[in-house]
Amino acid sequence: MAGIGQGPFIAGNWKMHLTRPEARALAQNVVAAMPGLQESRIVLIPPFTVLGEVGAVLAGSDVRLGAQDLFWEDRGAYTGEVSAPMLKEAGCAHVLVGHSERRQYFGETDETVNRKVHAALRSGLSPIVCVGEVLEERESGRTTERIDAQLSAGLRGLSPAEMAGIVLAYEPVWAIGTGKTASPGQAEEVHAHIRRRLRDNYGNDRATCAIILYGGSVKPANSYPLFKEKNIDGFLVGGASLDAADFIGIAGEALRAYGEEK
Ligand code: 13P
Repeated sequence: MAGIGQGPFIAGNWKMHLTRPEARALAQNVVAAMPGLQESRIVLIPPFTVLGEVGAVLAGSDVRLGAQDLFWEDRGAYTGEVSAPMLKEAGCAHVLVGHSERRQYFGETDETVNRKVHAALRSGLSPIVCVGEVLEERESGRTTERIDAQLSAGLRGLSPAEMAGIVLAYEPVWAIGTGKTASPGQAEEVHAHIRRRLRDNYGNDRATCAIILYGGSVKPANSYPLFKEKNIDGFLVGGASLDAADFIGIAGEALRAYGEEK
């Protein structure tokens, strides 16, 4: 993505965790580790309730703030929802869209993903758009079919220029919170497929620059071999992002792999 460096992109999705003091302490620990993680692009994605708290800790650092979801209208009578301009004002640079937990528990569809992606971009937020197959789809050989459907409907109507503002995350649903990580080979196969699709639809330059994250039980112990894969540009980390040492360890391992030839 233009202007934000080239190193590993490591995002921590805190999901529905952490009190204010816990959130502040975790953010402080990540900021304190940044001198050792130069070149990395680090994003913390806390719950809405502590965006202000975490944003205050990140202010003046290179760590960026993200939110876990948004609604597609800018304002109005939509009880319980939060809009892109609100997130922008809260200091967010990124917002997750289409996380599998939103799809699974809260009725998110490829169509609502698409509306949210457009809304985020309209407000100058960079959406991190999540795709991934469930176990049954993988086992029946329909992984790429599912990913293609999510990409084509979720990204509908975006110009190549708008695509420059988007980060993609491949999160196989069967690997989320299960301790079962995709093997580097399994992840790379899908990442390479996604990049080919981007090349077909948006051209070579856009595909080459695209950031494609892997998510699903990423830990310090598996992040080095995953990042060594050619088409894995970083990670979307869930559980391990709640532990400062683990999260920083993942970023460190990715940076170590980044420093070597892919
Ligand atoms: P885990 O790292 O806990 O498997 O979660 C992955 C995820 O869903 C990140 O968005």
